[in-house]
Amino acid sequence: MTSAQILGGKTAVVTGASSGIGRAIAEKLGSAGAHVYLAGRTPDAMEASKARIEDNSGKATPVVANVRDVAQVMDLVDRAANETGRLDIKVNNAGVSHPSPITEADPEGWREMLETNILGLLAGCQAAVRAMRRTGTQGHIVNISSVAATLPDSGVYGATKHAVNCISNTLRAELEGDPIRVVIIMPGAIATNFGRNFDPAVVAPFVGASGVEVEIKRGERLPDAVFEKMPDALRKSLGSPDDVASAVLYAVTQPIDVNVAQIIVRPPRQLAI
Ligand SMILES: NC(=O)c1ccc[n+]([C@@H]2O[C@H](COP(=O)([O-])OP(=O)(O)OC[C@H]3O[C@@H](n4cnc5c(N)ncnc54)[C@H](OP(=O)(O)O)[C@@H]3O)[C@@H](O)[C@H]2O)c1
Repeated sequence: MTSAQILGGKTAVVTGASSGIGRAIAEKLGSAGAHVYLAGRTPDAMEASKARIEDNSGKATPVVANVRDVAQVMDLVDRAANETGRLDIKVNNAGVSHPSPITEADPEGWREMLETNILGLLAGCQAAVRAMRRTGTQGHIVNISSVAATLPDSGVYGATKHAVNCISNTLRAELEGDPIRVVIIMPGAIATNFGRNFDPAVVAPFVGASGVEVEIKRGERLPDAVFEKMPDALRKSLGSPDDVASAVLYAVTQPIDVNVAQIIVRPPRQLAI
């Protein structure tokens, strides 16, 4: 079997597949042969990924879904399992950050972080286990955490990632008797739209270094060219989404009795995120 077919015949569901790390994971799994269900809120970006996956002879199904709505997460996973008869890989990647001092923050930012990073991930875990058991598939659940989960004072965002690790470790123990492994991936600073809710003044030097002229608006995605034209010097501080995707591919292609429990993937220089 060639590496291009290593996931041939398998089904994967990836949330947050319309940007950054999730997009890279979806395209990596698709190019390794999996039928990938890409979930996110931006259809154009997912259609572009579907075209790239299909150009590589893979299969992709974009699904517009909001992971803050548990029913939409359940429907997404059930659809993938029902249409293909199996679920091998579930990547809970969708996540947001609203950095702000606790004393000054807008509680709606807390709500979005808690519902996206924790509730959506929990629903994804439960739906995946049920689908894997129902279809009798050996599987991997991959939860995208953060190096923020290794720090004691990483804010409300960091608290959501501590929760991701606690949930993942608890689920791993619950599933010891099942052929289902639980993997935690903790990225360091990676060049994505993760900074979309940051103060534009924080993001401006990174965008400026790319040479791409663009107005930075809080809450909005940046054009892909900003990341594609990033100078090499910045790559020492901002890793590539593809590096994280390679770690996911490694974890999900190990024999089912090998549990790659957690991986930290970060660039050489550590930024505070
Ligand atoms: N980049 C980093 O430095 C870094 C470091 C550590 C951990 N992480 C984690 O990596 C994961 C991916 O982030 P990223 O860096 O790739 O950021 P990103 O480029 O902003 O991508 C986030 C993805 O999550 C999706 N998403 C957000 N809220 C959603 C919702 N309610 N329903 C469905 N999809 C939703 C976004 O969809 P739309 O774009 O369509 O809205 C997008 O596809 C997150 O869990 C993040 O916490 C990132």
